[in-house]
Amino acid sequence: MQIIKSISEFNKARNTLIGSIGFIPTMGALHEGHLSLIKTAKSSCQNTIASIFVNPKQFAPNEDFNSYPRMLDQDINKLRSLNIDILFIPSEDEIYNKNSPDIIYDNYMFDILEGKSRPGFFNGICIVVAKLFDIVKPTDAFFGEKDFQQLRIIEKMSSDLNYNINIIPCKIIREINGLAMSSRNKHLSSSEAEKSKIIFNTLELGFTMIKNDTKVVEDIYDILNKKLKQDSVIKLDYLKVVDYNSLIEFSDFVSDNFAICVAGYINQVRLIDNITYLYSEDSSI
Ligand code: PAF
Repeated sequence: MQIIKSISEFNKARNTLIGSIGFIPTMGALHEGHLSLIKTAKSSCQNTIASIFVNPKQFAPNEDFNSYPRMLDQDINKLRSLNIDILFIPSEDEIYNKNSPDIIYDNYMFDILEGKSRPGFFNGICIVVAKLFDIVKPTDAFFGEKDFQQLRIIEKMSSDLNYNINIIPCKIIREINGLAMSSRNKHLSSSEAEKSKIIFNTLELGFTMIKNDTKVVEDIYDILNKKLKQDSVIKLDYLKVVDYNSLIEFSDFVSDNFAICVAGYINQVRLIDNITYLYSEDSSI
């Protein structure tokens, strides 16, 4: 595995690669979820490139940029054992160089769900993902479905900006108790991690209700909000039942293709999760 820090070195290495390039952008603190993206990329592409860059532009001033987990040595060991071709670890100056202006891109999904609670978040993600796509020039890029809105936005950005990149969604990887794997889980105590199972239990309940024909959105919200509040461990930000493709919230009745998206805090740690159903496909449980 080559470890590369500068764009000029990266370009030299990139020019020697022949065939498909699978790319997994990350912010490090790698867990089984990331590793499954990498394994999927390795099984379908001739070359695999991962990046680690904690992107300041996707954190608001009051958010956890400084305390975001950073564990580069462990990450490098994990990636070496998977035998990827290149690990790209650019510095902030390398990425946010004055000679390479940020893209100006917007879409309606920036302002709903996560975007409503975290203004500027998706703008920051699109800026960095577009820069990384321009540098890495992958044929395929792999994103986890835990960040379902991020995935939808990157699919749309890639299509709107004519990136010729296959965006490959990968299933959520969960702890045994159902907690979706996330780098931020490292900040949970073991008892908080245990209690966090209420999130997935609530999503499963919602999924079952809808599949059993409870389609009135208000009835679903009533039951799910009660369940989430039964143990006051989670400070709920939002729970929304939305259309699978557009992410627009259903106003009256849920239709066949849906996603239930939830976000909240356990002791300052922001957790998000979702469960989805696409007609003719299995759910993402
Ligand atoms: O999902 C993430 O880890 C980040 O949002 C990403 C895609 C690496 C951009 O910084």
